[in-house]
Order: sequence, then C-alpha cells, then structure tokens
Amino acid sequence: MFTPNQLRQAYLDFMAGKLAASLNSSSSTTTTSAIEVPAMRPHAIVPSSPLVPENDPTTLFTGSGMQPMMPYLLGEKHPKGQRIADSQKCFRAEDIEEVGDNRHTTFFEMLGNWSLGDYFKTEQLPWFYTFLTRIVGLKPERLYVTVFGGNPEIGVDRDDESVQIWQKLFVADGLEAKAVSDAATKGFQGGRIFFYGEKKNWWSRAGAPANMPEGEPGGPDSETFYDFGAELKLHETSVFKAQPCHVNCDCGRFLEIGNSVFMKYRKTNGQFVPLLQQNVDFGGGLERILAAAQGTRDIFETAFFAPIITKLSDLSHLDYTSVDQTKKASFRVIADHIRAAVMLIADGVLPGNKEQGYVVRRLIRRSVRHGRILGIEQAFMSQLVAPLVVLYQEAYPTLGTQANLIETAINDEELKFQRTIAKGLKEFDKAPPVSEKSGQTYLSGELSFKLYETYGFPLELSIEEARDRGIQIPEQIQTEFAMAKTLHQDASRTATVGKFKGGLQDQSVITTKYHTATHLLHAALRQVLGSHVGQKGSNITVERLRFDFSHPTAITPDQLVKIEQQVNDWIKADYPVTKTMMFKTAALASGALAFFVEKYPDEVSVYTIGPVKTDQSAAIELAAKANDQPTSTWISRELCGGPHVQRTSEIGGLKIIKEKAISAGIRRIYAELNF
Ligand code: ALA
Repeated sequence: MFTPNQLRQAYLDFMAGKLAASLNSSSSTTTTSAIEVPAMRPHAIVPSSPLVPENDPTTLFTGSGMQPMMPYLLGEKHPKGQRIADSQKCFRAEDIEEVGDNRHTTFFEMLGNWSLGDYFKTEQLPWFYTFLTRIVGLKPERLYVTVFGGNPEIGVDRDDESVQIWQKLFVADGLEAKAVSDAATKGFQGGRIFFYGEKKNWWSRAGAPANMPEGEPGGPDSETFYDFGAELKLHETSVFKAQPCHVNCDCGRFLEIGNSVFMKYRKTNGQFVPLLQQNVDFGGGLERILAAAQGTRDIFETAFFAPIITKLSDLSHLDYTSVDQTKKASFRVIADHIRAAVMLIADGVLPGNKEQGYVVRRLIRRSVRHGRILGIEQAFMSQLVAPLVVLYQEAYPTLGTQANLIETAINDEELKFQRTIAKGLKEFDKAPPVSEKSGQTYLSGELSFKLYETYGFPLELSIEEARDRGIQIPEQIQTEFAMAKTLHQDASRTATVGKFKGGLQDQSVITTKYHTATHLLHAALRQVLGSHVGQKGSNITVERLRFDFSHPTAITPDQLVKIEQQVNDWIKADYPVTKTMMFKTAALASGALAFFVEKYPDEVSVYTIGPVKTDQSAAIELAAKANDQPTSTWISRELCGGPHVQRTSEIGGLKIIKEKAISAGIRRIYAELNF
C-alpha cells in the first residue's frame, strides 16, 4: 500500500520514465502483462507552482494543474521541453460550502502531465491506464471511462479514437468494453465506455464550449472513474433512484479519478479552430486515487487526512468513525480547512481582510466554529499544523522551515476570533438579540445580524447561545439573517465577487439564462409541491444554479422528475419573457412573487414568463387585463431587477443535479443547464 508521498512520487517517477523498465525499453511498443503500451517518453518533472498565481491578476488562486501551463498550451516554448509532469497544489474557494461530504475539499493536489504539441491520445490513455492498473494496482474491472459524444454544431466529432484505445486496453485485460450512449437516461446497458455531451466531456477553464470566451483553449476529454461497487447499494437511497445509476450520477458509487483533456481547439470568432499544436492536459486527483487504492469512498479516511483526524479525535474525545453525520461533517470541514490554510499561508497568504487573506481568515474562523460543534472551546487549530508539516514537508520542503510562522499566524487569527466571540457573548448577555411575539421570546434574525455586523459574532453562535438559554429559535432564522445581510450588503464579500475559478470575466449571457431558469424552477416547484413554496435564497454561477426554498418535507424522486420535466416543457414551449414597470402594490396584487418585499422601491420591474399561447388562454389574459385582475395564463411573475432572456427556448434545457435539506423546513436544489 502506498503512502501519500509514495503515491505522488510513483506518479512522477512513472512520468519521468523511471518506473516499469518494460515501458521504458528501446522498442517503440512493449508488453506489460497482457496490454500493449507505447514506450514511455520521459517527462520533465517540474515543481508545483504556488497557490497564488504569479502573473495572473484575473484569478485569486491556482485552481487546476493547467493554469500555470496556459502560455505553453497556446504555443509558447516551455523551457523544460514538450513533455511536462508535476503534482500541482490547487485551491478552489468556490467549494468551501461543499466541504462536509466524503469527497469535496478546497485544497487538493492534481497530478498532471502535459504534451505541448508532442504525444496525443494513443500514448496518454495507455500510460494512465498502466499507471492505475500496473503501478497503483487498481483492478481493471473497477475502472469505467467516458468520452466525448460529438457535436456537429461546433464541428467536433464523436471521439471514436479514444473508444478504440480504451477498448484495446480493457479487452487485453479480459474485459468486454462496450461503448454506449445515453447512460443518463438508459443506465449502463452493459457498457464500460460511455459517451456524454459537452457538459461532461469537454474541458476548458470556463467549462462547456458555449461558456468559453474568445481566445480560450479547450477540447474534448476522457474521464476515468473508479467503481466502489454495486454491493454498496448507494443508488437505492439516492433521491435520484427513479433514474438509472450511471458513472456521472450523484449516488457516490463512482469517483472520478482522472481527466485526459485533448486540448487542441481555441475559440476564435465563435468557432472552434484547431490550435497549431495538439496538446494533452491530464489531471488526476492525488487524494482520490489514494482513496481508490485504499478502497475507501471517504477521502477523509485516507492517509492524507488520518493524522489530522487522529489529532482532532484526541482534542474532542470523539471517534470519527462513530459520530453522527453533523459531527462527521465538522471533522471534515476542520480537516480540509486547516490543510488549505497551512498550504496557503506557506505560499505567503496571511489571514486578513482582503482577497486571498480574507479566504484564509474564513477557513480558520469556520474551523473554529466547527470545533465548537465537536465540543472544543479552547484555541486548538495551531496544534493541527505539526502533523500536516510531517506529512507534507517531503514534497513541499518550505513547510518545514515555515512551521513556526504558520502556527503563529493560525494561532493569532484564532485568538482574534476568540476575542470576537467573547465580545459578542458579552453583548449577547447585555442586550440579547431577541424579539417578543405572543409572550414568547424568539431569537431575532435582524438583531443577530447586527451582532454579526458589529462584533463579527456569527449566526451559528447566536443560535447556540439562544439554545443554551432556552430562547426559541424560529424556523426561518437563517432567512431572516440572510435578508438583513442582503440589505446591508456585506462589504467583505466583495473580495471574491467578479473573480471566478478560471479567472475569466463573468459570462453574462450564461448567467442570464440561469437567472430565467431560476424563475421557471421556482414556478415549477410551486406547481408540483404547492404554493407554500417560497424562495429563500438563490446563487448563480456560469456552471449551475442553486435555489433555496421553503418546503416542510423531503421531496420524492417522482416529484423531482415532475419538476424537472415541467421546467423543460416550459423551456421547449418558447414562452416570451417580458418586463413591465409597475407599482409594487399593483404588482403584488397581480400575483407577482417577491423574495423580499420591503427591499423594493414603490415602482418595481416585474418579469413575466408567458402568457401561454393558446386561443383560450390569450382570451383569459385579455379579459383579466381589462378587469385589472390577476391572470393565470402566465407561468411566472416576479419582482426582479433582471436581466433575463427574451424567450424561454434560449435556456436550452435544465437538469436537476442535487436536492437536499439545508435546515429545518428549507431545501436546496442544484441544477445545470444544457444550452
Ligand atoms: N485541466 C483538467 C481538469 O482540471 C485536467 O480537470
């Protein structure tokens, strides 16, 4: 079994041509066990670039292995040649709130190899397969792969070449390797190789082809998945159990462990024009490959996290494997955040109020709060630094020399936060953030926000303190707090606004589509679940929408399918989206929904989707208008500042990706669009 350091080194040695003598022989093709693999052409091994990009003001952090390679992928000569490999430190701030499940982390290492106009698919895929099956020792039958299904509109064909390469490898290892399409709707169909569209099997820093700005390079990719086994029956408890399980489904049976991008296009005048050189951009999750090697679905159970989890168990007197899910999530958040904070500080980012520093501050403060959930009240974070230094200094020697500085920075920040908490607690006692209703004392979202704004005292702590004092906590406390925060426009958040992972400009066309799709989703939820559904929050990126809403019970798979179907029917029907200016009272009387009524001025813009174009409904609409009555011929009407698309068909189609409860009575949906 590999240790983390051994696994990283094995990959780098393999790419350098130092492993598997048979792969390195002078003949052009050699045989390892049963498979035929082109001889390894040695790569130059380069150190990881820092987590803060060196010459790229458009992005806060290095979020993928290829980011530092950009100039070379576009044709500039790399000083070390045309074949490069490394293990790149990556940090994705946008994943902070995803951390807590078994696989998301903000910091990770991406094993990378690049062909800068050198080798292509015929070499890269067999090399990676050899690494996984012959060096790491993964069983071939546990591996599944996906390839690009083609898109005539952008002039890029289905990737049959990759299918043939994969098939040869699998067949030589005694596996039938059928290639099939439509796995998302039809399931496995006995396949091992799956065609997916550009949402899944196209890679660029901005995602799918339509999201890419001019000049951006990208290409079809082939992803490799590890199967933790049907015997886990994970799909049976998934909310998507009504749909078939497939490698890209969210049940957790499969984990993506590598992505081979055949980066040979560049968006030019809206077309996908071949670059002068064919590149390979390969990225593999080091921690995920170790999880596969160890046979654990929980990357926090791998040797990468074991020393931190052990230390946290000592500090909290809790056992990670037997705590409930809430505490387990807290273990994971702290383990992830301390590791990320240590790596970021080692790369020169000290906790602070702006940009990268603010993110480090958030990581530390979130950890302190989760420490309290584990019953740890004293400053503890700096004690987690030493085990991390032991684990990582072999690969990143500066960690050793900086250990003291890192401990001090983390401890200082933690103590500062402890003082904030102490001050907030004092204030909490002096003037409790509560309101009275029918003789009952409730925690107030608005006053909790004041406490947060003035003293930095987080809502979670107000809730904790209220609970300890027997003060009632209203169901909608999160929403009340969020509303107060929206009103006050939390200035500190501006740090990350306008910058996203690839460092590109906000893709306003895409977000506009997501915005209208959010209105349709809201309307579909109300139609399928009932008119008690109300918006509690919304967040849009160029890759997905997130929508929070009130609903007291779990949503059944059947209902989810209906909701998604309804949105797609509306999209297909190509309804117009119109904007009108109305007085707020009239708008509300006409049935318009408003997320936060008081926020809006007297005269408001109202976006209406519909009317439904049938003769009868048009007549109803006219009659209703004449009588100044609410009309039922539109699908959605909301007070909203826009912008929106002009017709619903512009949205393309919507796919619900995930649905879960986020607090009592509030649920969250993630959905993606296919354009
Ligand atoms: N650049 C590719 C990725 O990040 C390998 O998935």
